[in-house]
Amino acid sequence: MSEAFDVIVIGAGPGGYVCAIRAAQLGMKVACVEKRETLGGTCLNVGCIPSKALLQSSEHYEEAQHKLADHGVTVGSVKLDLARMLARKGEVVGANVKGVEFLFRKNKVTWLKGEGSITAPGTVSVAGKDYTVKHIVIASGSESIPLPGVEVDEKQIVTSTGGLELTSVPKHLVVIGGGYIGLELGSVWRRLGAEVTVVEFLDRLVPSMDLEVGKAFERILAKQGIKTKLKTKVMGATKSKKGVVLKLEPAAGGAAEELTADVVLVAIGRRPYVAGLGLDKVGVALDERGRIKVDGHYATNVPGIYAIGDVITGPMLAHKAEEEGVALAEMLAGQKPHVNYGAIPGVVYTWPEVASVGETEDQLKARGVAYKVGKFPFTANGRARAMGDMDGFVKILADKATDKVLGAHIIGPDAGTLIAELALAMEFGASAEDVARTCHAHPSLNEAVKEAALAVDGRALHI
Ligand code: FAD
Ligand code: NAI
Repeated sequence: MSEAFDVIVIGAGPGGYVCAIRAAQLGMKVACVEKRETLGGTCLNVGCIPSKALLQSSEHYEEAQHKLADHGVTVGSVKLDLARMLARKGEVVGANVKGVEFLFRKNKVTWLKGEGSITAPGTVSVAGKDYTVKHIVIASGSESIPLPGVEVDEKQIVTSTGGLELTSVPKHLVVIGGGYIGLELGSVWRRLGAEVTVVEFLDRLVPSMDLEVGKAFERILAKQGIKTKLKTKVMGATKSKKGVVLKLEPAAGGAAEELTADVVLVAIGRRPYVAGLGLDKVGVALDERGRIKVDGHYATNVPGIYAIGDVITGPMLAHKAEEEGVALAEMLAGQKPHVNYGAIPGVVYTWPEVASVGETEDQLKARGVAYKVGKFPFTANGRARAMGDMDGFVKILADKATDKVLGAHIIGPDAGTLIAELALAMEFGASAEDVARTCHAHPSLNEAVKEAALAVDGRALHI
């Protein structure tokens, strides 16, 4: 007889492994199928964690070269040991993925190694063996979107995976796509010495972001030496031993130009990954963008089959996938959890960092909501001045009538940490006044958040 489980999760990324652990905590018999050699999915293996390791290391290199002297710290000649930097990144990844294995053992989650496919509702097949199950959770994640005419070889033309593994610093890196990956990895290689050009189809970087923050970001990146070509499309690429020649055209049409690169990073977005799952066989419906269709309880159209994370609608972010994993496990245990999609923060981990939660001004205008704006620059924050990191500002958007916080957008030092306070404020339905009346430690970067909240009512103290 085949082994039976209460829950089988397919995919051990942040959505899947967290769902498996939570379901096991709630007393269910759980297995998680993963075909990769290690657990943790895109995020831990080739996404969030290795990219943050390289961002941290390259930031230290940049500081040693250009920032420490201003603090009175002389380090002499600074050398790059790229092999060590990459090895350290590997160690960070290794420790994280082993951590998930430990958590599986601790919570008695069985790791079924191999590719999982759904052979019938209630049956998952892995490595030639069938398992019987009450609830199947698909958490198979996403993959890079290919760009026709620009064929990825992960050496000269790379996705983020190859872009995290370059064994020498390219002279000229061209990034196609001015979004999260393009700007994070573009920053890494720029700091390590590459000339970086970002080619973006739209008229702005990170289009999901508040326009004012996006424009400030563009100026700061330009100051750092990152070149941008907005409103430009890539028509094709020709590879030779000398490099890659890209054919560019203005998005609105016009004369073509050529751009030569040593390495091209294609980062034009990600798409849901469903290959090999056998969804046709069991009739699981997809939407027009290839995402698995689910209802408010993550249920697909086939009873007993659920989906979470990058493979369904919503922002492709690890913490969003995790929230869904926890919520679904709790629903399967008969609880009534809730994910607040209006308060999911997004962070670009460049320096300065860019972070946002809730709605942008454009979104509020489109909805016809009357709002107030409070802004505070880091140049007026004592801690930012002491750090020597004064680029950027905090911007809070609050309802004109009720003062409720509707959105917050930060560009500046540690913006990714600062945004948590405003996500919590939104989760609790706080007003800007609530944030402004909260005592903030001095001298801290968070005081810029308090001041922006005061500025919503026109009473910032330090500007
Ligand atoms: P994934 O993490 O993609 O995991 C899915 C897993 O399922 C994979 O391991 C895959 O091997 C496995 N799988 C698929 N099909 C099968 C099958 N049939 N059988 C067995 N296994 C299968 N997000 C953030 O929030 N913060 C960041 O800083 C961040 N940085 C990123 C940097 C990069 C370079 C990239 C590419 C992404 C980054 N992301 C970041 C996005 C984040 O990685 C994803 O949102 C997140 O990993 C989605 O989690 P998931 O569980 O849905 O899927
Ligand atoms: P993205 O959606 O962030 O950015 C893609 C960019 O490419 C957009 O600005 C888009 O307008 C542009 N684009 C699309 N087609 C193009 C074309 N043909 N030519 C030129 N530009 C084009 O996607 P990205 O950077 O690939 O990242 C994928 C996802 O991974 C992100 O959306 C995010 O969800 C996640 N991620 C999150 C990170 C974080 O949280 N810090 C870091 C990295 C990735």
